Amino acid sequence: MDIQHILEKIDGLLKENSQRDFVLQKICEILKQDVYHYDWVGFYILDESKQVLILGPYVGKPTDHTMIPVGKGVCGQVAESGQAMIVQDVSQISNYIACSLHVVAEIVVPVIKNGKFVAEIDIDSHSPAPFRDEDEQLLESIAERIARFF
Ligand code: SME
Repeated sequence: MDIQHILEKIDGLLKENSQRDFVLQKICEILKQDVYHYDWVGFYILDESKQVLILGPYVGKPTDHTMIPVGKGVCGQVAESGQAMIVQDVSQISNYIACSLHVVAEIVVPVIKNGKFVAEIDIDSHSPAPFRDEDEQLLESIAERIARFF
């Protein structure tokens, strides 16, 4: 995985575009295409008044989980703590919401704006224990770049 190359593509995209959903959709496409072990890539966006996450742009199979309460599943836990979570084997955790039987691992990285959780990048993988520090670095760099859209 060439983090620098992916970030250059995303910086190019951000230079030319300012429409949030368009940018988020393109980021999903770039990530899924460029990283072999990313099988579903999407954004969940916080609805603060209702304390739920709403599914935003994504690529991969459609999911039933278009709304996730804060605290529920991996996504909801990240919304609550504001800390990234890496799950190398989803069968080992209890507070998990299954989207597809093919998913074996998941990484969720928060988007923080002015110190507050606003959204998150969620990635599912069909590969066993696929995530390294570089995945978290890449996704955190992206999260920092897009925080201004929220
Ligand atoms: N697995 C997530 C739910 C979202 S899907 O992966 C798209 C969770 O446990 O929160």
